[in-house]
Amino acid sequence: MPTRRSVLTAGLAAAGSATLTGAALTPLLRSEEPLGTQLTSAASPVVEKYRLPLSIPRVLAPYSTAGGVDRYRVTMQSARAQILPGIQTDVLTYGGHFPGPVIQARSGRAVSVEQYNTLDMPTSVHLHGASVPEQDDGKPMLTIAPGDRRTYTYPNQQPHASLWFHDHAHHMESEHVYRGLAGTYLLTDAVEQALPLPKGAYDVPIAIRDARFDENGQLVYVMGDHPNRTTLLANGRAYPYFEVAARKYRLRLLNSANLRSVRLRLADGGEIVQIGSDGGLLPKPYATDAVALSPGERADVVIDFSRYPVGTRLVLQNTNLEGGPADQLGEVLRFDVVRTATDRSEVPSELRTLPPLPTPTAERTVVLSMDESGGPDPKGFVNGKVYDPDRVDDFIRYGASEVWTVTNGNQFVPHNLHIHLVQFRVLERDGKAPGPAESGLKDTVMVMPGETVKLQATFDTYRGTYLYHCHLIDHSAMGMMAQFRVS
Ligand code: C2O
Ligand code: CU
Ligand code: CU
Repeated sequence: MPTRRSVLTAGLAAAGSATLTGAALTPLLRSEEPLGTQLTSAASPVVEKYRLPLSIPRVLAPYSTAGGVDRYRVTMQSARAQILPGIQTDVLTYGGHFPGPVIQARSGRAVSVEQYNTLDMPTSVHLHGASVPEQDDGKPMLTIAPGDRRTYTYPNQQPHASLWFHDHAHHMESEHVYRGLAGTYLLTDAVEQALPLPKGAYDVPIAIRDARFDENGQLVYVMGDHPNRTTLLANGRAYPYFEVAARKYRLRLLNSANLRSVRLRLADGGEIVQIGSDGGLLPKPYATDAVALSPGERADVVIDFSRYPVGTRLVLQNTNLEGGPADQLGEVLRFDVVRTATDRSEVPSELRTLPPLPTPTAERTVVLSMDESGGPDPKGFVNGKVYDPDRVDDFIRYGASEVWTVTNGNQFVPHNLHIHLVQFRVLERDGKAPGPAESGLKDTVMVMPGETVKLQATFDTYRGTYLYHCHLIDHSAMGMMAQFRVS
């Protein structure tokens, strides 16, 4: 039997008359039809790239702004979306949008979101990267039953940051996020607003993820199914094109994949200026030719398309193939430079000042690991234990500033660590100072096999019980998640 990956690779490599073996003995034909996706009875769709425009997630409007609170209503509902050209795919959504909408918030001004669950599964909504009271954190067991509503209140007592919200229902989070329960939450403040960065239509959130589709173009979810999720999506569409003006754009990149890490670069090796990470702007911009993102991480970047003549088509590549098929995993989207535009935006050489790190008051060790044997029903562990919602793993004193030494105990499987409630600082990666991409505030940090990362977090906002976990969220659903209590 060919693996699904070999089927997909063969199908694309020989599009036109591929000959496959076994159950997948179906020719994959590319025709003149307007459909950009060819469905066959047994093989996965062959996706023609650059058929669909990038969809820009819509910004939600509050239904009330009275009393200093912006109030929103969102209905969690199933919907159909055109992810693959010419195909309607069933998805789970916040408000009918795939991926979810954008909520714009401002530091110091609270937001409340009434979430109405019309799905047939319990859900729980977590605002990733936010510091919120325990009952509003989207705890795994504090779910919204089908047909019920729950209002989450976000105090926004933290600086600007590019956050996102997603499902966190116990053991179901990974499938729910995979099927579409994820949205963007952009928190701004006076520091950020004072900067001359690209704004409005030139400030675009782009969520990148992978997916696996069946012969009908429907999403296939199998836990831990990393090698078979070989179609890349940007803002919910496979390989879209994005028509840009020849000027600077701010792109808020999010890796919303369950397991796949990406390393993004422009096809010409052109400059990408990273200006921010998970917890908002970096102290200084950093010019690079590549941006690496593990699941849950964000990178805020500026690309200046004025260096390209109108008519240029420039692919955003992923160079982190992890052994997968380059024709499917090697390209994410294409920038089509279609017009000139005036541009008064700038990237200042200083972006923000981070508060000095307090003297640490405690230390903690975290070892992430999972079964690597490849057997059925693998388990994930934090410090050797599978997540138990009734167990508190770590007790933290309110106000403490802790250094966590986080190790990936596996030989092959990458992990990362996401901590709820806090934005932390990366102190060291394998004993060395972190690179400039990790010089700002972080809530999720990559930890490669055998690697050790030291980070420092200060727990001085809310008391309560919160999660930390690997954000390769199939792993957290396998149990690679633990709880701390701040008191
Ligand atoms: Cu992005 Cu606990 O989650
Ligand atoms: Cu989180
Ligand atoms: Cu993991």
